[in-house]
Amino acid sequence: MKNTEEKQFTEQWRPLNHFTPQENWMNDPNGLVYYDGLYHLFYQHNPKAHVWGNMSWGHAVSTDLLNWQEKPVALLPDVNENKQGLGYIFSGSVVVDWNNTSGFQQGEHPPLVAIFTHHSEQAVQCQSIAYSNDAGETWTKFEGNPVIENPGIRDFRDPKVFWHQDSKQWVMVLAAGQVVKLFGSADLKSWQFLSDFGEDVGSHAGEWECPDLFQLTTEDGETKWVLIVSINPGGPNGGCGTQYFVGEFNGNRFETDHDNVKWFDYGPDNYAGVTFDGLQRVDGRRIMIGWMSNWTYAGDLPTYPWSGAMALPRELTLLSTSNGHLLANKPVNQYQNSMVEVTRNKSTQAISAYLPQESVVNIEFNVSTSAPSKTTWELTNVDGEKVIIKYNPLRKLLTVDRRNAGFDIKIWTMPIIEAPVLPHNDQISGQMILDKSSLEIFWGDGTTSVTALLFPSSPFDTLVMQSQCDSEKSIIISKVGQK
Ligand code: FRU
Repeated sequence: MKNTEEKQFTEQWRPLNHFTPQENWMNDPNGLVYYDGLYHLFYQHNPKAHVWGNMSWGHAVSTDLLNWQEKPVALLPDVNENKQGLGYIFSGSVVVDWNNTSGFQQGEHPPLVAIFTHHSEQAVQCQSIAYSNDAGETWTKFEGNPVIENPGIRDFRDPKVFWHQDSKQWVMVLAAGQVVKLFGSADLKSWQFLSDFGEDVGSHAGEWECPDLFQLTTEDGETKWVLIVSINPGGPNGGCGTQYFVGEFNGNRFETDHDNVKWFDYGPDNYAGVTFDGLQRVDGRRIMIGWMSNWTYAGDLPTYPWSGAMALPRELTLLSTSNGHLLANKPVNQYQNSMVEVTRNKSTQAISAYLPQESVVNIEFNVSTSAPSKTTWELTNVDGEKVIIKYNPLRKLLTVDRRNAGFDIKIWTMPIIEAPVLPHNDQISGQMILDKSSLEIFWGDGTTSVTALLFPSSPFDTLVMQSQCDSEKSIIISKVGQK
């Protein structure tokens, strides 16, 4: 599929409720911001081709995080005919400047300010800003760019900015080689270095990218800070992945309180995720979107005329467990499901269900069990292709085998994806969401999730669940209501 002439339209693989650009390349989500009733998703985009290049910010909006409307490209590269200029627009964030600290406001409404990396033809990376006074429709780059010059560090990118109320400043987290640098600013234009984080903690098996820092409160009212850092390579199932740290932030430094490496999603296809600005004033939810792909094979995916999809938006919560604080994630639940089928059984035999077609399929499973029970789920289609998901209680492991799930990507990072899960007590429960070419699995309380791409020759239409126990088990199938 390398050659343009050979490329075939593959709309059968286009997800229904996961954002994809109509055509051409997409990677990281950028500038996630909720403003005036709309969720904005900007993204790394090549407006001219199906492969990475000409990096710009694409733009889409949604009222419910599931149905997206693509808008004109928001930010184009600054490269002249002589290949000079600040360069491509790499990843970054958008904030609502409620108090007009930047002075960019024109009119009654606060400006939106984008903070992003410029990456020049000579591969020099620096941080720049742009602003919008029409709720994200059009953008003007600041004439004083860059706002942070490159200090001689090759990988110096992906600024994520938030307003820190306690220290009354804007705080930026920025990936620099294999650490995160923190900067502070009063006006988004002039930045002071605060501190470095991460030299001797976490995984250093790859480049650190796309950090994000935010506060979460556990159910028992304990407030912690969470720092997300994507890493490429070095992910838990090969290729890239996203680690996180739980700790404290005092307006100057972030410090973590654990030595072990924690992963946000064990699947190979959830990368560069960051969270929305602007929601904290509305309902306090912390919602994250990641890019549903992996740098190892992103350029070899069989979809055309687009390449790249976003994972489902996830609501993040912090749980206090016997394994320390864990970041849980579940799909946002602001859409109506319509029930299709409920299957219950008390025998040891398998139960099976038909999966509806032409819709996103939501599968909820539950097995009541007092003993460790191996459980298997198989999704199959008429072409004999299948995905096999297994839970092994002794190894406390969930595995996803996508070797015979359709279009064979020779370089899938791992033949069988492995994800550790917290042991179950009396219930094995969770959720799976299938949308044309993706499977997202959420274990019980959301402390383990697995996001995996799949390209079946025909849609999976049957699910069989089998568990080594004779108590009640059930599968509930519902359609996710896309418009
Ligand atoms: C992460 C990343 C970022 C960079 C962007 C370039 O996937 O490598 O670090 O800003 O993609 O497209």
